[in-house]
Amino acid sequence: MKTKTSIIGAGNVGASLAQLIAYSGLSDVVLFDIVKGIPQGKALDISEACPLWNSSVSVKGTNNYEDTAGSDIVVITAGLPRKPGMSRDDLLQANAEIVRKATEEACRVSPESILIIVTNPMDVMTYLAWKVSGFPPERVMGMGGVLDSARFRTFVAWEFGVSVEDVEALVLGGHGDQMVPMPRFTTVKGVPITELLTGEKIDSLIQRTKNGGAEIVSYLKTGSAYYAPAASVFEMLKSIILDEKRMLPCAAYLSGQYGINDIYAGVPVVLGRKGVEKIVELKLEDSEKKKLEESASAVRNLVEKLGL
Ligand code: NAI
Ligand code: 2OP
Repeated sequence: MKTKTSIIGAGNVGASLAQLIAYSGLSDVVLFDIVKGIPQGKALDISEACPLWNSSVSVKGTNNYEDTAGSDIVVITAGLPRKPGMSRDDLLQANAEIVRKATEEACRVSPESILIIVTNPMDVMTYLAWKVSGFPPERVMGMGGVLDSARFRTFVAWEFGVSVEDVEALVLGGHGDQMVPMPRFTTVKGVPITELLTGEKIDSLIQRTKNGGAEIVSYLKTGSAYYAPAASVFEMLKSIILDEKRMLPCAAYLSGQYGINDIYAGVPVVLGRKGVEKIVELKLEDSEKKKLEESASAVRNLVEKLGL
């Protein structure tokens, strides 16, 4: 039987993700939005591309949660994106209401699903979705670290003049201004960049990575990034659906790992058919640990603002 993936929010990220899934043939897709016509139109357009891609998945657009029933995976991208000058955190209250409702409705009809949260501020929204869903923490996760790491990989590859395929990178912590790019775990063909680039150069790449979302907002003006975000969710989905057991940085529920308790933050996890199957605890230096704790406490502040 084919996997069923529902995407709540048929905007830029949601529709780009639907396109990637349909192109790959990975899963049937239901695209849900509150705006009438948008999910139906986008789903029809993607369906009409499927013959050209030799893909036999079904892509359905809807304004009715019942159509998402029995989903294996639910991806929540519903919400407002940021505009120039806004931080991800400025979206807190408005998006919390949207994510709360989306989680309640989607989980009601797909009680066995795995939830992937994209809506910003993502780590806080993931915590909210976990609470509202009542799901075990391994079935609720957030996408941020895969995207931030992909950005870091891109900038390192450009700087070093090497293929992005030869660069691995790791960004931990919350998907916010206090994310924690990890140069010691960022490598070109296995060689840490700390051996290859000056400290000053590494700092500037870290800065560009942290500013990666805002850099795109400053060009687009009316919205935020979506191609790389959709590709990042797709990588997570693929690991879950195909049980690949990829080790990817995702927002996962921490219950003591890294000395952090009762919060979602980006850490390396193993993703498989059961969701977050393992949280990988790296041996961090004191300065790295401190940055991760600061990042997690920025997430905690927002969680407290929501009164969760
Ligand atoms: P968008 O504005 O293109 O799409 C959002 C969609 O959500 C719209 O179609 C809107 O009608 C829909 N929506 C609004 N309220 C809804 C509700 N109650 N139920 C269902 N759908 C609803 O925005 P985009 O670019 O797709 O971004 C979506 C969210 O993802 C934003 O919060 C953005 O900040 C976040 N984001 C997070 C990333 C990450 O790395 N975690 C990366 C990129 C975006
Ligand atoms: C990004 O990093 C907006 O969180 C989104 O592009």
